[in-house]
Amino acid sequence: MDTIRRTKVKELLRTAPGQEVLAKGWVRTKRGNREIAFIALNDGSTIANIQIVVDKASMDESVLSGITTGACIGVRGKLVESVGSGQAVEIQASDIEIYGGCDPVRYPLQKKDTSFEYLRTVAHMRMRTNTFGAILRIRSQMAYAIHEYFHSKGFVYLHTPLITASDCEGAGQMFQVTTLDLENLPKNKKGTTDFSKDFFGRQTSLTVSGQLEGELGATALGEIYTFGPTFRAENSNTPRHLAEFWMIEPEMAFYDINDNMDLAEDFIKHLVRQALFHCYDDIKFLSDKYDPELIDRLRSVIKTDFVRLEYTEGIRILEDAAKNGVAFEYPVYWGVDLQSEHERYLVEKHFGRPVILTGYPKDIKAFYMKQDSDGKTVRAMDILFPKIGEIIGGSERESSLEKLEARIDELGMSRKNLEWYIDTRRFGSCPHSGFGLGFERLLLFVTGMQNIRDVIPFPRTPKNAEY
Ligand code: 4AD
Ligand code: MG
Repeated sequence: MDTIRRTKVKELLRTAPGQEVLAKGWVRTKRGNREIAFIALNDGSTIANIQIVVDKASMDESVLSGITTGACIGVRGKLVESVGSGQAVEIQASDIEIYGGCDPVRYPLQKKDTSFEYLRTVAHMRMRTNTFGAILRIRSQMAYAIHEYFHSKGFVYLHTPLITASDCEGAGQMFQVTTLDLENLPKNKKGTTDFSKDFFGRQTSLTVSGQLEGELGATALGEIYTFGPTFRAENSNTPRHLAEFWMIEPEMAFYDINDNMDLAEDFIKHLVRQALFHCYDDIKFLSDKYDPELIDRLRSVIKTDFVRLEYTEGIRILEDAAKNGVAFEYPVYWGVDLQSEHERYLVEKHFGRPVILTGYPKDIKAFYMKQDSDGKTVRAMDILFPKIGEIIGGSERESSLEKLEARIDELGMSRKNLEWYIDTRRFGSCPHSGFGLGFERLLLFVTGMQNIRDVIPFPRTPKNAEY
């Protein structure tokens, strides 16, 4: 069988008929009559299957009966023009080898339950469904597009650590990393845990963001980006939160908040454009199956200018809406951290396009953001998207040593842990900005999926770390 090279289904479907070919993959369906069997074979290279036509008389009965849904097979035969509709070519099988049978009785993907919740419990089958095949190909293509975008602009890809001793967002939502014996913790004189005995000689955690280290990169290399997993121990069981998610964090010297917004808007439009260009078949499949407005939504984001709005103005719009009878679950007033219902009202109801909200109250934002002269607001920017809410969070950074230190003290944070970061403001400080794009939030938007657990292969959420 293996005397010729295997061709992927994606390539076979673009190949002219007439050749002898070898295809390998998993059986999606088998149907037919007494004389002929039709097998739909998929190998993950594309959403489409290749049809295999088997003349039953020419095939061993034991092979034929082993070709069940889910089985893994190799097929050798002639690529011929397809008489049936739906595909240009099909394979007239001359030889079939079964690599792995699949017991039809115990097959985990019975028609009765293919809900997203159920699929999360059968990780091996989940990736073999059309839906997750499409999502994971889009995910991969988007990761590539992100690297390509920044490389084309001369950004340096910086690897920031996953294990850290500082809490970038200051929200205390970190997973601890320790090799201490939890049954027998060493104590110091105060009676608290003696972390000097721990692996790193101090208390460490998984990072919530690569930004602080990224700023060191930007203030040396000019423009950098990080792209890696981040971890948040927030007990949020929502369709938009993961405990382990991937984040893209560019950080740029000499960018002010406006340059930052321009980059973020261009970046996200570029990614959506790339998705439509490279993943059209997969997006079309998802759109036809789940979300007929998906493609229009993607196209409209590319075309429109994002609204740029001050937080204060946003609050005024929301207060007016509440006065005019819009029932928000959470109250709206100046100073409040916006809930996703508020963000979505602005984006979906009021403006009908993405919104970049700036000038947030300093008390609801992280310590590193550039303080405005009013003493109340900071140069933060959140990008709010239809269906998603916040997709990007970023800011211009506080470049003044005095102001940064004052803010750290004001928030009761430990300066000691941050000296290495504060040093960037002591030695050649510069104006700079950056933002973080939640990779899975982007994928929610691009795929139209409703739950963030369904755009990552192995979701990590509270009480759930299987596989
Ligand atoms: O707004 P956040 O917390 O900002 C930061 O971490 C900054 N250090 C970024 C920067 O300026 N370099 O997170 C950034 C983005 C959010 O807008 C959201 O898209 C995503 O990360 N995000 C999450 N995605 C999934 N699950 C979670 N629990 C998330 N928390 C944040
Ligand atoms: Mg945020």
